[in-house]
Amino acid sequence: MIKIDLTGCDSFVAKERFNEYVKKALAAQVVLEDETGAGNDFLGWQHLPSSIGKPELDDCLSVVEGWLGKEIDLVVVIGIGGSYLGAKAAIEALNHTFSCHLGSHGLKVVFAGENLSEDYIAELMDLVQIRNTACVVISKSGTTTEPAVAFRLLKDHLEKTYGKDEARERIVAITDMARGALKSLSNQEGYKTFVIEDNIGGRFSVLTPVGLVPIALAGFDIEAMVCGAQDAEKALAERSADNPAVRYAAMRNLLYDNAKKIELFASFNPKLQYLGEWLKQLFGESEGKDGKGIFPASVIFTTDLHSMGQYIQDGERMLFETVITVENAGREVIIPSEEQDLDGLNYLAGKHVEHCNRMAQQGTKMAHIDGGVPNIEVKVEELDEYNLGWLFYFFEKVCGISAYQLGVNPFNQPGVEAYKKNMFKLLEKPGY
Ligand code: PA5
Repeated sequence: MIKIDLTGCDSFVAKERFNEYVKKALAAQVVLEDETGAGNDFLGWQHLPSSIGKPELDDCLSVVEGWLGKEIDLVVVIGIGGSYLGAKAAIEALNHTFSCHLGSHGLKVVFAGENLSEDYIAELMDLVQIRNTACVVISKSGTTTEPAVAFRLLKDHLEKTYGKDEARERIVAITDMARGALKSLSNQEGYKTFVIEDNIGGRFSVLTPVGLVPIALAGFDIEAMVCGAQDAEKALAERSADNPAVRYAAMRNLLYDNAKKIELFASFNPKLQYLGEWLKQLFGESEGKDGKGIFPASVIFTTDLHSMGQYIQDGERMLFETVITVENAGREVIIPSEEQDLDGLNYLAGKHVEHCNRMAQQGTKMAHIDGGVPNIEVKVEELDEYNLGWLFYFFEKVCGISAYQLGVNPFNQPGVEAYKKNMFKLLEKPGY
């Protein structure tokens, strides 16, 4: 369950004006839910949570069981954009921060195919040489170059190391039902495959096997995550001015029309760094088109107060910030007292570190509002699977409503093709 706090915008927007924008957001909600807007063949995510039952979850979990049986100790998840960011965001949020030193909760998951860096891929190959490896390859189109290059190398490694038959047991493909090179390859090689439905776009796919399989492999409770998303699906279908998705979409659009062109997603918990990356893709790719759209950026505080803080406080006044607050910290650390107090910190002795973090958050909110930065807070009780499921669905719904209110089709990404065409020409791909 999440709560939204818009009081940090009070000094920037008139109440009557906000109420007008809420009415517009409610109209956009109807377009979204009645499926009458542009891109309405990509709305499968809306009722996705309630369509997931035990068989779907068990299918995802069967991969975990099979690979635990083989004592796999490294899973390489290959994908780019919407085909990796949701899983990465969830795993980073839920894992121990130092899991790579202390050991993972479930199987160790690393990501590849999200860049074309030769150093990255060479170093990944160093790692797979010394690990008992399996691979999940994810591409809806099945034709994206970055994951295709990484998969060709991984497949080659697995086949050379374990033989073709065993390699087949260590590869799972998540792709389109019928189209694309990955689908044909999977059919021919006989890989276990999961289907990404036609009506669900990449950046809205975290609650499909695209997100659920890697998250389950990393040892997290996908049933609880889906349960959170199901509750969000129900709660956010309410057609009311109290619906938090409607209120947030209304405020984003009003701030944008008031020349606040950049939304800074912020969190005081570094475990949410990749949620920020997921949000940048969700909103950037959905809204940034036709010469319009809020530019999404992300920061982690207090870390980035020491790098971006100056600009946020004092630079060009085109920002608003959306802070994702986790209300209950998962762990407790008390600051100890010291007899000599040489560092002058005894005034904090006996206090939780999280208390300091909270005070930093309050102080930052006041300072930024004073400095001309409206503040929106999205509050989540705990950082767990249930709340992450809620959060994922919440932001997807906000994005759909908000983009329709802005007047763009949230579900296409024509701009992404431009670099690909040039790259293919330069690489002398046949047909370009
Ligand atoms: O949201 C999207 O549709 C994109 O970001 C895609 O997820 C990304 O381009 C990867 O595409 P594919 O899964 O087809 O390889």
